[in-house]
Amino acid sequence: MNITKIELINFRNYKKKSYDKFSNLNIIIGKNGIGKTSIIEAIYLGSLAKSFKTNSDDTIINNDAESYKIKIYYFDYGLNNNLEIIYDKSGKKTKINSKIQKRLSDFISQYRIILLSPDELKLIKSSPNIRRNYINIQISQLHKEYIHYLNNYNILIKNKNDYLKKMMINGNLDQRYLDIIDEKIVDEGIKIYNYRKDYINKINNYINDIFKNYDKNSNIYIKYVSDYEICDKEKLLKELKRIRKKEINLGMTSFGIHRDDYEFIHNNNNSKEFSSQGQQKLIVLAMKLSEVKIFINDYNIKPILLLDDLFSELDEKNRNSIFKSINKDTQVFITTTDLKNINKRLLEKAKIYNLDERV
Ligand SMILES: Nc1ncnc2c1ncn2[C@@H]1O[C@H](COP(=O)(O)OP(=O)(O)OP(=O)(O)O)[C@@H](O)[C@H]1O
Ligand SMILES: [Mg+2]
Repeated sequence: MNITKIELINFRNYKKKSYDKFSNLNIIIGKNGIGKTSIIEAIYLGSLAKSFKTNSDDTIINNDAESYKIKIYYFDYGLNNNLEIIYDKSGKKTKINSKIQKRLSDFISQYRIILLSPDELKLIKSSPNIRRNYINIQISQLHKEYIHYLNNYNILIKNKNDYLKKMMINGNLDQRYLDIIDEKIVDEGIKIYNYRKDYINKINNYINDIFKNYDKNSNIYIKYVSDYEICDKEKLLKELKRIRKKEINLGMTSFGIHRDDYEFIHNNNNSKEFSSQGQQKLIVLAMKLSEVKIFINDYNIKPILLLDDLFSELDEKNRNSIFKSINKDTQVFITTTDLKNINKRLLEKAKIYNLDERV
């Protein structure tokens, strides 16, 4: 699976521009603000139909234009394919080989991506919802049904919260509705819990070995923290019954996988409070490289690696260790302001796109 060409129309600072003849290793160089990250953003959007920079597609549209369009050509199993995203006031349209896709779930993950950027490296310090969001995206790239379970769960929680709010105001509503909805929530929640547990276990198969390349004497694993740890339907329902009064008083659901989190345990301590800033970045980096291994070894999927401005963040030794751990068959896009950041041997193999030279 390789991307061969991208076309951007009214996308960020690009009015109309295409880049083509991508190879396995692509380096995009140019000064600040020239449009390097925008290329990474377009490739990301092509995979997930969502930007990592914003939730509002309006901000992506070039200045006074009214819509943006991305077209990405890719080569897969010996076939040339293309996909399109067109966004305007009426919303987002997606196409695969010119055919409109009715459902977003049919469109996403035509190719899979792993993004590494300075912002991503802040994962340990971020809030739990950012960590949850990240793992949701990763699991949904591997299991389409996961998105469906997650949507069901979120709708159920919303309905339950609405009902709890009504109960808070008007106490004598029928509690049987809560019994029914709790059972549905637990059924969907256990499924989601199992996917998350499995994914974190898989990361733990690799992360410690990878991190040892940066720091021989450290130990790393990820600890999944969830209300559903007991993972037994009857026990979970019992717990929900026990806290029902509290939930009614609060007017919201205070127990469930929507509160999940995961901690990075570094030498038996929570990395958030223990590790240095540089170590925290390297731990996230090791996690991401573990994920590349999961995609390839456990699912036989070669993800496209998007390394946005990553090398300004790392010293030379750590930069080189990334290059070593990149699978040769995996397509990589690297952005940088300075080719000095890139290993010489790598430069010889790479296709270089110098945006400063463009007309
Ligand atoms: N909707 C938009 N319309 C026009 N220009 C935009 C829009 N959104 C962002 N820009 C501009 O487009 C450029 C996109 O920058 P991008 O993030 O791709 O730059 P970059 O090359 O990655 O820079 P850096 O090295 O600083 O990370 C910026 O100059 C930004 O100000
Ligand atoms: Mg950038």
